[in-house]
Amino acid sequence: MPDPIFADTRLARLYDAFDGSRIDLNAYLAIIHDLGVGTLLDVGCGTGTLALLATAVGVTVTGVDPAAASVEVARSKPRADEVRWHVGTAVDAPTEQVDLATMTGNAAQVFLTDEAWLETLVAIRERLRPGGWFVFETRRPEARAWEQWAEPHEAGQTFPGLGLVVERRTFVRVDLPLVTFGGEYEFPDGSTVPSESTLRFRDDAENRSLLDRAGFVVDELRQAPDRPGLEFVYLCRPR
Ligand SMILES: C[S@@+](CC[C@H](N)C(=O)[O-])C[C@H]1O[C@@H](n2cnc3c(N)ncnc32)[C@H](O)[C@@H]1O
Repeated sequence: MPDPIFADTRLARLYDAFDGSRIDLNAYLAIIHDLGVGTLLDVGCGTGTLALLATAVGVTVTGVDPAAASVEVARSKPRADEVRWHVGTAVDAPTEQVDLATMTGNAAQVFLTDEAWLETLVAIRERLRPGGWFVFETRRPEARAWEQWAEPHEAGQTFPGLGLVVERRTFVRVDLPLVTFGGEYEFPDGSTVPSESTLRFRDDAENRSLLDRAGFVVDELRQAPDRPGLEFVYLCRPR
């Protein structure tokens, strides 16, 4: 079950605004260009930002995400009818094979058990053409991102027709390899919607071992150019 920020109808509409600039996706667009990608499966596509950017450069895109509210936001965006959207996981995705599968925005960290991550990895591998690529990112545990999340955080965004919504992070629980954080969103009428997320942090050895078990070889491990030192970005191919 995806977290409320993705799955709650009121919160999913706020996601893009609170998520801010998506310069992180430039690196994925560069990879799409460099690999000459014609077909893309974006797993955990959320509100569809990468899917729509890739469509704009001529790629045929399928976006899948189990959070129906996020996919609904994606479907409401300009040119959304050019993307094939599916509410579901990689296991539910169409089985035709693509040049590239992606998981951006640290979506790989939502898989709390190795079994759940392996099931997704295998489903992705099965949907890649021979010689295809899987590219994803995940936070480096040694960068200890949760220490920053523990600092008090409050931010407001104004939405047309809605007004000011305030995001507050009120707690972080660290129980490695799991980190849970959350808080609430306060709406102009004073109502609040709680939000809580748990992420799993895996080190490079664990990531490689699980990729190997799922039938992938790591061709390259990169940095995220916009977050130097903070992320692992894996470029993998089916073995
Ligand atoms: C941090 S968001 C990233 C969304 C998008 N990739 C982006 O870059 O904006 C993580 C996404 O993973 C999705 N998700 C949760 N469980 C999933 C699963 N089992 N399979 C695929 N995606 C999942 C969530 O619904 C959410 O949209």
